[in-house]
Amino acid sequence: MDGSAFPGRPDRHPGDTYEDILNRDSRPVPDYLREGRLPDVGTDPVAASRYTDQDFFDKEVKHVWSKVWQLACREEDIPNVGDYHIYENVGKSLIVTRTAPGEIKAHYNTCLHRGRKLVTLNGCKAEFRCPYHGIAWNPDGSFKDNPIGWDFPQWEGQDMSLPQARVDTWGGFVFVNFDPSAKPLMHYMKPLADDFEKFDWENRYRSHWFQRKIPANWKVLTEAFMESHHSITTHPQILPNLADVNSQYDMPSDWITRQFSAGGVPSPFVQPMTEQEILDYMMSPSGRRRGPVANADQKHVLGEGESARSYAAELTRQGLSSVDGYDYSAASDAEMMDALLYNLFPNISLWAGEGQKLTYRWRPNGLDPDSGIMDIMMHARVPKGQPRPKPAPPIEMGFDDMMCDAAPPELAGLAAVFDQDFSNLPHVQTGLKASGNGLVHFGKYTEMRIRHMHHMIDRFIAAGEAGGVAPE
Ligand SMILES: [Fe+2]
Repeated sequence: MDGSAFPGRPDRHPGDTYEDILNRDSRPVPDYLREGRLPDVGTDPVAASRYTDQDFFDKEVKHVWSKVWQLACREEDIPNVGDYHIYENVGKSLIVTRTAPGEIKAHYNTCLHRGRKLVTLNGCKAEFRCPYHGIAWNPDGSFKDNPIGWDFPQWEGQDMSLPQARVDTWGGFVFVNFDPSAKPLMHYMKPLADDFEKFDWENRYRSHWFQRKIPANWKVLTEAFMESHHSITTHPQILPNLADVNSQYDMPSDWITRQFSAGGVPSPFVQPMTEQEILDYMMSPSGRRRGPVANADQKHVLGEGESARSYAAELTRQGLSSVDGYDYSAASDAEMMDALLYNLFPNISLWAGEGQKLTYRWRPNGLDPDSGIMDIMMHARVPKGQPRPKPAPPIEMGFDDMMCDAAPPELAGLAAVFDQDFSNLPHVQTGLKASGNGLVHFGKYTEMRIRHMHHMIDRFIAAGEAGGVAPE
């Protein structure tokens, strides 16, 4: 197509590329949004059993989850010395606790006597005293006392401190890793951390947190948010203002992959729309997706040469600025409007940009291969000159709970999108089990991130089974 960055390329949708859309924007486009590394990850199908077999799940537990950095909480969840937050995944439980103003530790949440969990609710303690027999540890994990210490000669002279997992922090997030030989978090996160520096994550607070159980394997959950073209059938209401099938995908590193989908631009799958029609749709109740943009009372007639995307981006700049007091006048249209998803292997997604600061985390539901937990969190800037608001606690949602019931009215459009996503996933899991040929196929370009995730899992399993170190 004329004007396309990929004229005549058969391996891309023939419509405008993301790059084409950026090139029409009203502000200079930051370099990090341009297409990056695109290694060839092939076209091989994967076995459906990877999502359903207990044996494969057990290998993931043993060789993947024991070796990767995992998002445990925010630093703001444990602001004071003695505060602690319990992080659990695949049967493991950690007490993530602030032991000094600048120090966080993660103790295994198990009494060294008879194995009871030391804590089962988040809180603040001057000691971790087991509720079973009263044996206690100091906040830093060192042994404190044993009411029947005279009966434990075997503990004399031994280090009976609580075992610890690794802790690292970035952007106000606290990460943990069960692997004592893992490299520091930044080794894996660097390309993301560089691109995200301007978004000032330390100075944000968790404004919303939804935690939804879903009856599907954790990878089924994860993969539902690693491509945009399912919008054609799953989210038809967002097509007039989301360039879905012509999204940009790339992989800055083996650990960080990305997908960028332009907002305020119609999907190539809808009939041609005028810029005014796009804007009117975005402002309508069924078209609204973003709080600061969505103002149905505000009818605006676009001027000559004015695009719906650039106008909506400007509304978002003004809307955000009125809420948090910061100046967004230099921020690009893309950073205001687009879905800019970065994934850190294996289970974390952070949105770049300013418009929607979404964070996703996917985990298995305990040790069940057939169910998972998705955390949806939003992080707003602490309003300028104001004290830090308290971080939102999780709204815990069961298998049948709807986001549209849990979310506040200003997030109704977003909640509807998540409910549509969740409606597919139980039927993916049962469909995988019912598969006639036992295979799953991915698109070569649009689903490269998903195929790559499977390759990474295989690398971890192969290294673990060979007794070697985890991939670096
Ligand atoms: Fe979706």
